[in-house]
Amino acid sequence: MKKIEKIILKKNKSKIVSLSVYSKNTARIADKFCDLVLVGDSLGSVLYNYKSTKQVTLNTMIEHSKSVRQGVKKSLMVVDMPYNTYRTPKEALKNVKKIMLKTKCDAVKLEGGSKIKAVVKILIKNNIPVMGHLGVLPQTDKTFKFKGKKDAERLKILKEAKLLEKLGVFSIVLECVETSLAKLVSKSLNIPTIGIGASNNCDGQILVIDDLIGLNPISVRFVKKYSNIAKEISKAVSNYSKEVRTKKFPQKKHSY
Ligand code: KIV
Repeated sequence: MKKIEKIILKKNKSKIVSLSVYSKNTARIADKFCDLVLVGDSLGSVLYNYKSTKQVTLNTMIEHSKSVRQGVKKSLMVVDMPYNTYRTPKEALKNVKKIMLKTKCDAVKLEGGSKIKAVVKILIKNNIPVMGHLGVLPQTDKTFKFKGKKDAERLKILKEAKLLEKLGVFSIVLECVETSLAKLVSKSLNIPTIGIGASNNCDGQILVIDDLIGLNPISVRFVKKYSNIAKEISKAVSNYSKEVRTKKFPQKKHSY
């Protein structure tokens, strides 16, 4: 069975486990436990300290995705299309084809709803699997407030989710969407929703690996830190540093 069909069939049966990763070694670990691995453009802030994901380029996404591809064998591998690479159907098709060819990913993710209708349409017409992304849209939103407080906002998100499903996307990320709205959207669709800061009412969850292992020093409500890997790395580097200075490392067994 195709990987995408498998993801869709999980809806109402078992939760879809997803992670954003940026390179081979973490991808290899994520692949063991996840259904879906995303090369997210969040790498702009997590790795490059950019103010926004707007600065992430197509080539940066391609290089990280090539690395991730080395570690992903069984999961569905999705790559984020960065900002300004899908402004028109023609531009989107050219850039998506380039990303898919160079990275051998299984699908791409695009942010937005009705504004990108024509883009999603042409990609799907060209048999390119597309994942949607609604709620907080880091590429274009000016503020990072959760979505779904106001009725108009709730209606818009629900309408856009239905539109994306109708256009043929196989799944939708809901980012920072209020709990009852995430429930309503998830119940209204036949395709799975993947939440980040959108409650356990979604059909699956996604986090950024650097956040969940405690490597990225951020503190936001929707991140649970499952480990403090920064502390472990510190310990190891500190021991290495001491041993080099005291000439305990390298020993004979480390030498040729
Ligand atoms: O860029 C990213 O990593 C993402 C996920 C957090 C959904 O879009």
